Amino acid sequence: MTDEEIISGVQRIEIREGRERTIKSYVLRNNVITPKDERILKEYFRSHGFMFQDSPLDYSALFGNGNPVIIEIGFGMGDTTAETALRRPEFNYIGIEVFLKGFVNLLEELGKRSIDNVRIIRFNAVDVLSRMIPDGSVEGFHIFFPDPWQKKRHHKRRLMTPSFLHFLATKLKKGGYVYMVTDWEEYAEEVLSFSSDEPLLSNPFGGFAPPVAWRPMTKFEQKGMESEHPINEIWLERNDS
Ligand SMILES: C[S@@+](CC[C@H](N)C(=O)[O-])C[C@H]1O[C@@H](n2cnc3c(N)ncnc32)[C@H](O)[C@@H]1O
Repeated sequence: MTDEEIISGVQRIEIREGRERTIKSYVLRNNVITPKDERILKEYFRSHGFMFQDSPLDYSALFGNGNPVIIEIGFGMGDTTAETALRRPEFNYIGIEVFLKGFVNLLEELGKRSIDNVRIIRFNAVDVLSRMIPDGSVEGFHIFFPDPWQKKRHHKRRLMTPSFLHFLATKLKKGGYVYMVTDWEEYAEEVLSFSSDEPLLSNPFGGFAPPVAWRPMTKFEQKGMESEHPINEIWLERNDS
């Protein structure tokens, strides 16, 4: 891949662009590639990034090993991604994020620290999952502090809906997990409630889950705690059937 292909490739972030726009779970801010971003993309994209393609991903070719794959949706600045990958090196991680500055920030960190069990893509996660991720192939999904879209008229933009949760479940291996954390209590209650109607998933905790030891704190979490929002964790597992 040439430098030019990398720079132009990371600017396209969704399949349906322009007039075809559907409701999205994100809005793009600060979307200009600076000379510094370009340098980072040229240096580290080939080793730690990958482009959208309309065909299934070959995980072994991407990572150079057959370790189980965990996908993080919306990693933000990547606060937790790199640390989690270092704390649980027996897994491979795919990070998906549309936010340019966050993508470049994590790319640089992965490259500088040679964290080789993470690959990241700048694209709408819904498109990546539907076109590139085979059913029954994922060990776990991490969704940390998804945008709560607080106003009622914006709730339709929320990432976690009953149909999206079902879609994630179809991508999981048997025994695989969905792990969501949020400081927005009403969103947490809503997801917990509709998750019990999803036949492909069970909740081993019967309610909110206790925190796991390996999950580092993010800036969004810090802000939530400063505002005295409770941090709620949801852990669901794929059934055998
Ligand atoms: C509130 S931030 C949380 C970031 C990070 N997980 C954390 O805890 O610091 C949510 C992130 O999800 C990303 N996002 C939302 N919908 C997405 C989608 N469909 N595909 C990729 N990224 C998405 C947004 O760009 C945003 O950076």
